[in-house]
Amino acid sequence: MAVNLYTFRIQRNTPREDGTLETRWQEFRVEAEPTSTVLTALEEIKGHQDGSLTFRQSCRSAICGSCAMKINGRTRLACKTHVADAVKNGIVEIAPQANQPVLKDLAVDIRPFFQRVHKIKPYLQEGDETDTNVGKSAYEQVNHVTQCIMCGCCYSDCTMAEVSPDFLGPAALAKAFRFVSDPREGAKSERLKDLSDPSGMWSCARCAMCVEMCPKDVAPMEAIVKLRTRGVDRDYHDGAGQRHALAFHTDIQKTGHLNEFTLLMRTVGFWGTLAEMGSALHLIKKGKAPSPFPHKAAGHDELKRMYEIIENNPLDVETKADERPPE
Ligand code: SF4
Ligand code: FES
Repeated sequence: MAVNLYTFRIQRNTPREDGTLETRWQEFRVEAEPTSTVLTALEEIKGHQDGSLTFRQSCRSAICGSCAMKINGRTRLACKTHVADAVKNGIVEIAPQANQPVLKDLAVDIRPFFQRVHKIKPYLQEGDETDTNVGKSAYEQVNHVTQCIMCGCCYSDCTMAEVSPDFLGPAALAKAFRFVSDPREGAKSERLKDLSDPSGMWSCARCAMCVEMCPKDVAPMEAIVKLRTRGVDRDYHDGAGQRHALAFHTDIQKTGHLNEFTLLMRTVGFWGTLAEMGSALHLIKKGKAPSPFPHKAAGHDELKRMYEIIENNPLDVETKADERPPE
């Protein structure tokens, strides 16, 4: 196979004594086959060009999750990414994962990521809701999410983790879903209640980056949506996220339009609305204020019929909503 010369532009991070980092970019030229992995190229650099380059790796087989890093702006496993797929304008740019403190070069401190996983109590609990009858559908749900290798790709590319440091994040929430959907779990309701707090399932903005970047097709966002469905089904309506979803649902059912004038009030209450007045005034100034007059959308009758059909045929969220089509 043809061997090409590639440029690797790597972010070097050196810790200073005062705890800050000195960051610079360094370029290396590496000969590689197009099907070589980015990890092989990094090893070549470390072995033959600069032994001080620091990165994590172990299994080289997309199993241990330790080689996750930003490759041309997206977080991927270096051992699973071919150089030919990563190269852009002749350059492969590599940086450490985002949303986690950098220790040195490409190595990040993974403790905050795992603290989030520990927060959801990643173990089965005894309780009133325990059912020892584990059906095929439940087993498939549990099994699917356990494909997660805790690589952190989803957390690194999560847009909500970037702006909301307390957010549990996609991997921890997917793991929480694994326990909520396990019939043997005895405290499902308590879990759903805990997950309804502001750092939990309702904080996900559904950008779907976690679905796109997960190297194991865990699709964490799907798990988060199912958690929400179960939370609503059990009447956990206290948080802003739940209230927002219900206000959305009511408006669309009634008129086919969102009543954005009252949506904020119904979501965050009077004081929350007051706090957002600056943004609201800015929108009005820019001519982006919603219409104050509620009116029905075209095709609203059809929409109403769809609501009726759905309401007369409710999904059993413990089973049907979770079933995936056969592969
Ligand atoms: Fe990695 Fe996917 Fe697990 Fe996130 S859900 S930690 S991307 S395997
Ligand atoms: Fe283990 Fe890449 S080295 S996942």
